[in-house]
Amino acid sequence: MRNRLSASVSSDTERQTSNEFYMLNDVVRSLSWSNVTLTVEDRSTKQPRDLISRVNGRVQAGEILALMGPSGSGKTTLLNILAGRNKSSHGTAAVNDASIQASVYKKLTSFVEQEDALVGSLTVRETLEFAARLALPRSVLKAEKGTRVQNLIDSFGLKKQADTLIGTPIRKGISGGQKRRVSVASQLITAPKILFLDEPTSGLDSVASFEVISLLKKYAQQHQLIVVASIHQPSAATFQLFDKLLLLSQGQTCYFGAVSGVAPYFARLGMPVPDLMNPSEHILDLTNTDFDSEDEEGGTASQRLVTIQSAWKEQGNSDDVGTPILEKSDVFPDVQGLGLAHDLGIPVTLLQRLYLKSYRDIVTYWIRVAMYMGLAVMMGTVWLQLSTIQKDIQSFVNALFFGSAFLSFMAVAYVPAFLEDRAIFVKERANGLYGPLSFVVSNFFIGLPFLFLISILFATVTYWLISFRPDATAFFVHVMWLFLDLVAAESLVVLVSSLFPNFIIALALVAFANGLWMSVGGFLVPTGSLNVFWRYVFHYIDYQAYVFRGMMVNEFDGRTYRCAGNVVTGCSCAYESELSGQCKIDGKAVLQYYDYPTGQLGKTVGIMIGIIVVYRVLGYLALYFRK
Ligand SMILES: Nc1ncnc2c1ncn2[C@@H]1O[C@H](COP(=O)(O)OP(=O)(O)O)[C@@H](O)[C@H]1O
Ligand SMILES: [Mg+2]
Repeated sequence: MRNRLSASVSSDTERQTSNEFYMLNDVVRSLSWSNVTLTVEDRSTKQPRDLISRVNGRVQAGEILALMGPSGSGKTTLLNILAGRNKSSHGTAAVNDASIQASVYKKLTSFVEQEDALVGSLTVRETLEFAARLALPRSVLKAEKGTRVQNLIDSFGLKKQADTLIGTPIRKGISGGQKRRVSVASQLITAPKILFLDEPTSGLDSVASFEVISLLKKYAQQHQLIVVASIHQPSAATFQLFDKLLLLSQGQTCYFGAVSGVAPYFARLGMPVPDLMNPSEHILDLTNTDFDSEDEEGGTASQRLVTIQSAWKEQGNSDDVGTPILEKSDVFPDVQGLGLAHDLGIPVTLLQRLYLKSYRDIVTYWIRVAMYMGLAVMMGTVWLQLSTIQKDIQSFVNALFFGSAFLSFMAVAYVPAFLEDRAIFVKERANGLYGPLSFVVSNFFIGLPFLFLISILFATVTYWLISFRPDATAFFVHVMWLFLDLVAAESLVVLVSSLFPNFIIALALVAFANGLWMSVGGFLVPTGSLNVFWRYVFHYIDYQAYVFRGMMVNEFDGRTYRCAGNVVTGCSCAYESELSGQCKIDGKAVLQYYDYPTGQLGKTVGIMIGIIVVYRVLGYLALYFRK
């Protein structure tokens, strides 16, 4: 294999054949497992309970196994164990009848989760290309990556949709069945030898389900892949596509063997498939105890299940299962090209993908820009053309408070987009593509230009309409404060949504936090009057307070305002300063009233950056520990 691979650069035709050869599995001939058991503590009774109990099975290269059973029977649990994602299980698994190192095994397998986690604003081809770039090491040449993408597009019937967007809630894309095929194809890009799929047909109608499974079967046969897929209620036609069936109920085996043997087996048990009935439906009915009559202890359905389970145990059930040889095996010296891309290329690839996503995705990008612009026009016209008179001082202060607080508040609009990115991260991390650091770093950098754009647009509209201090430097300092405000607010969203990855909860908590920052920021209640709890626990970590203070100093330091009346008729100044004699107010007097020192720009900016860093580091830790 190594020889042919290294020859693959010599010519185009050879590259094509070697690529096909590469995708072909000639490494893994069989996957078998025996006595797989997972015991957990039951949530209600606190007693040990077997979620999976002594399950055996064996699949050969090119075969596709259906894992069936009523919901809650342990299908997902077993798949996770077989894929090596659950470390607390017991039993043995063997590849080619020999035990295998976990790290090698991981490179041979891929997992397609039940929920599609696709980036809606990428096309089908882009999705696969990014999957290739994230999952494949540099040693796989670019041309070969391209060939693999094209082969998978062809194999999964996506040729016509190759350049169509996947689709977002507000932008129609490909169909549900096509999405599922993209999910499957993107897990095949690394040329795994064993593929696990959790309910690849859930949510699809029977035609789309049949399509997914038949394409999968064809691919498995062509490439000698081992496929294990859980499936719920397949149609008769879909059911017949599988080679083997493992039927579970309450974590125990009810049948394992050829699909063609199912009907005869249950007939022998005295439970034949009725004429005209779909055999898969029949066996699910037989093993489902959900609708057992409650009046009798261990109703008829439970009794029947016990009969089926013990019948399976009695018949020895070992005819199809080889005995694994338990020793370290080195049958896989050649898993080169199966490694991951782990390097600096990952954050760059993620950045590119986020970039495509954000400028194509109306919700995360343009709707937010429009929203901020709407707010800017509203503020600019409500606080229209204030002048440097005493009467307008409070309006200036209010505009600064409202602008900084509301801009920060609007960051809640980022929650759904972040949760979507996080879902994709969780899936790709589980597949070993990259860790939380790459995700956090790319997420941070992709946000900066966008937030800067909003700050500058927002300030351009509001600053001059409201008539803040007319000075170029003051304008840019104002922009900087808006920018830091937005970066901090978005960092808070990242932290909260990483801790509580639920739309409603994250939204509520971010809104609450913003309400808190407004209340303790020193504007609504002067800092000196805040009681000690709010002041010492929250005021000093309130980023909005620093933004408001910074903007206040920027506006009032170096500007004077006219008092009411005039020197002749008598003059009354709301803020006493050295300029009272000239019937004017020095802006510094306003700052003194709020207890805001001047000349601390560097220090305040430093504190802001510190708060942002802390939020991001905490967000990283939340993602790191919350698996
Ligand atoms: N960590 C756990 N502790 C206790 N019970 C669990 C745990 N994980 C899953 N279960 C329970 O195990 C059963 C099997 O779950 P699952 O494998 O998801 O079933 P399926 O995929 O067949 O619907 C369910 O009843 C579920 O509530
Ligand atoms: Mg499940």
